[in-house]
Amino acid sequence: MGAKMKGVTVVDHPLVRHKLTLMRKKDTSTKSFRQLLKEIGSLVCYEVTRDLPLETVQIETPLMPMSAPTLAGKKLVFAAILRSGMGMLEGMLELVPAARVAHVGLYRDPVTLGCVEYYFKAPADLADRLVIVVDPMLATGNTAIAAMDRLKEAGARDIRMACLLASPEGISNFHGHHPEVKVWTAAVDERLNDHGYILPGLGDAGDRMYGTR
Ligand code: URA
Repeated sequence: MGAKMKGVTVVDHPLVRHKLTLMRKKDTSTKSFRQLLKEIGSLVCYEVTRDLPLETVQIETPLMPMSAPTLAGKKLVFAAILRSGMGMLEGMLELVPAARVAHVGLYRDPVTLGCVEYYFKAPADLADRLVIVVDPMLATGNTAIAAMDRLKEAGARDIRMACLLASPEGISNFHGHHPEVKVWTAAVDERLNDHGYILPGLGDAGDRMYGTR
């Protein structure tokens, strides 16, 4: 388990730190960036799901019957914020292949930095499931806040947030609106710049993942 601050778990496993450094480097290729985001997605997912409840079932091994642990309750939901959430989602689905998936389309207005919703599709029974919101960059926090608002409006009650990089300002803004939603991230960087980018950061995650710049 990683280092802790209030409501935030930094997943600081050496493999995560190493992979994140590779992602930050400006010369890292689109192909490598996408692969690394997927790999860190799996590793962050491992920690976000660490305390999932288990129940005991009776099974038979080839040698004898036994009581064995299995995940309890309904399948969880990964709610990916488009578009960069998709890269992390891939790695998370490798660990939890039976998870349900919600898609939340939000873009950041480049002038106001406010959020505009353009797509929303989620399982109907969100209220009965753990919802893990996936967005690599918790920068201003406005996108994550809008996603939580929307998911709560759709019924979600038990929500966690998985990201790759967070800013101190973004965490504070986010927890000002959704104090009960715990955050898992690979690192908390120094600060935001005037355009809402995380410093030192890694640039625009969506552009780097899809090669659109
Ligand atoms: N979104 C990104 O992709 N990068 C940032 O630094 C901030 C928001």
